Amino acid sequence: MYISFKDKVAVVTGAGAGLGRSYAIFLASRGAKVVVNDLGGSWDGVGQSKTAAMRVVEEIQAAGGKAVPNFDSVADPEAAQNIIRAALDNFGTIDILVCNAGILRDKTFLKMSLNDFDLVMKVHLMGTVYTARAAFPVMKEKSYGRIVMTTSVAGLFGNFGQTNYSTAKMGIIGFMNSLKLEAQKYNILINTIAPSAATRLNEPSGFFPKEISPFLRSELVTAMVAYLCSDQCQSTGYILSAGGGYFSRVQIVEGQGIRFDPSDDITPEIIFENFSKITDMKNAVGHFSATDGIKKSLGFLFKRKPGRGEKEGSEK
Ligand code: NAI
Repeated sequence: MYISFKDKVAVVTGAGAGLGRSYAIFLASRGAKVVVNDLGGSWDGVGQSKTAAMRVVEEIQAAGGKAVPNFDSVADPEAAQNIIRAALDNFGTIDILVCNAGILRDKTFLKMSLNDFDLVMKVHLMGTVYTARAAFPVMKEKSYGRIVMTTSVAGLFGNFGQTNYSTAKMGIIGFMNSLKLEAQKYNILINTIAPSAATRLNEPSGFFPKEISPFLRSELVTAMVAYLCSDQCQSTGYILSAGGGYFSRVQIVEGQGIRFDPSDDITPEIIFENFSKITDMKNAVGHFSATDGIKKSLGFLFKRKPGRGEKEGSEK
């Protein structure tokens, strides 16, 4: 089996460097027509330049592939429309959207200006929302789409000095969780990558020890992203961790919990006595949606007849 992107049109944001560059080059090498979007600023979001996106487009074209550059910022709703419009104007449609563009403004919370918080939220979270919003109607109309969003272990698990980035990256998970439910009936599948790669973005922080950096090639993440962009991928709502040859699925799960009779008076002392049972994660399960989760956690209430003093449908 060979995964091909022939006749597919892809938009990769932040494709002028690092991971995005690798995604764009790979998709084009397998036949996709690619919009290489990049604002061309510094790793902390200062300035802009056409050089980064142009270079990647030239590289793709030199290898016989098809690509056009776009220099708009994902952080502005109008500009994000232009990014998707570049795909429609040049290649007639959009099949694949990889929301990858990103910057960092690391500082501990009290030292971080709210401006730095806002900007990081704008680029990562709203940049993902704006581009997805622009692409969604086209994908809906044709009943086809693959969207790959980008989160981070910083958001999934926390990282010192990155409250802004972690908030944005976890916001993307919430966005995917609900959008996937609205998108599924149109055959638009949405997954999120949590990459690990040695790029200019994490170089200043020294997040990855020097001795393992040579193994953290962007191409190792690209294999997973390309799969998630393909017809062959039928999953939606997954979070995939990829980097340095390691691949895994990350999921938000809920413990089995415990159930009391809802007509009992539950005191903080009862919570205290049962806290270890309530927080036990043995046999924890994931849910595809909130409705799914509620069915599993509160399903027992449907089977219960109202007790003395309780009216059907009332709170107690
Ligand atoms: P990078 O700095 O090499 O590439 C990011 C690209 O996005 C740059 O070329 C930059 O010019 C572009 N960009 C920034 N703001 C933009 C905007 N407003 N509009 C359009 N383009 C913009 O960084 P890297 O490492 O390739 O990061 C790619 C994505 O992966 C980011 O979302 C990052 O947060 C995420 N990520 C990376 C990890 C890593 O280990 N490298 C770890 C976890 C997440």
